[in-house]
Amino acid sequence: MGTPQTLLPFSREADASRDPPWLESIRRRAESDWRRLRRSAERSVELSADATLILGDAVEWLDAAPEASVHAVVTDPPYGVIEYQEKNQAKLRSGRGGVWRIPPSFDGAKRNPLPRFTVLSSEEVNLLRTFFKAVAERLLRVLVPGGHVFIASNPLLSSMTFCAFQEAGLEKRGEVIRIVQTLRGGDRPKGAEAEFPEVSVMARSSWEPWGIFRKPCEGTVAENLRVWGAGGLRRISAREPFKDVIACSPTRGREKALAPHPSLKPQRFLRQIVRAALPLGIGVVYDPFAGSASTLAAAEALGYRSLGTERDHEYYEMAQKAFPRLAALSVR
Ligand SMILES: C[S@@+](CC[C@H](N)C(=O)[O-])C[C@H]1O[C@@H](n2cnc3c(N)ncnc32)[C@H](O)[C@@H]1O
Repeated sequence: MGTPQTLLPFSREADASRDPPWLESIRRRAESDWRRLRRSAERSVELSADATLILGDAVEWLDAAPEASVHAVVTDPPYGVIEYQEKNQAKLRSGRGGVWRIPPSFDGAKRNPLPRFTVLSSEEVNLLRTFFKAVAERLLRVLVPGGHVFIASNPLLSSMTFCAFQEAGLEKRGEVIRIVQTLRGGDRPKGAEAEFPEVSVMARSSWEPWGIFRKPCEGTVAENLRVWGAGGLRRISAREPFKDVIACSPTRGREKALAPHPSLKPQRFLRQIVRAALPLGIGVVYDPFAGSASTLAAAEALGYRSLGTERDHEYYEMAQKAFPRLAALSVR
């Protein structure tokens, strides 16, 4: 990603004399929003001059957060909600499994635990819908008009998560398909592998859906961009639009050593979507489910401002160590 500040069309350090007149008012508002956001939590840490991590529940923080102050959301939430509940985290940490299963070892290599989403009961599925609707309703209030949300899911649960976001009033604007070889699916029927050598219970999963949503614009996209600095997606270059299929292999050992979170997303992928999320490179990117602060680190590497909430003390501590290391990581 190199030195991203120089790629910004309208960076905070840019020569202001070349900027269109409306840009100054967007910059001023973004500046005051940033100050308000940084003061919005009792317990938080300034990871850098441009990144703040809040210890707390996302829904509670969103209830108290200033209206129309966040320009984009990029997040990898608890897909099935239950896997990050306290009781399942306690089981994961003590190696007892629960909803987290250890995938079969491959080529003698030990695999990291993965949450099992095929075991969700109908009550848990209802909980998932209610939870994501509650999150989306609050994001709608806190986002500026035209603000985008990129939210990760998986092929088993994305229809429910994305539907809850639409029901809350966010516009669906497509999906990013991350092409990634996973260890999910592809197994033969349990206990009868030899009997059914040519049968898989499910397809081996090779992609990850990221829903793209937007808070409705005020007027046209151009009008909204001039007032709020949001409404569109930042292009890769003047010639090349942002595209919705991105191949990116699983997070590698090098990155996992810097941030040993069970759901760590790779910087190479995150930096591409975080970059697209702020069309003018101005504003704040918020991650409600910050984990190891990988989204915040991607924003830092791009020269963007960012804010995260994380309610688990261990991950909150982990994020403080991981953030500068992930942000400094050089990726292709
Ligand atoms: C899938 S992980 C995100 C991992 C992150 N993408 C990374 O690369 O490190 C989801 C995170 O959300 C946190 N979480 C779950 N529910 C939350 C809530 N209601 N408020 C804040 N954080 C929450 C979990 O503790 C977990 O760290």
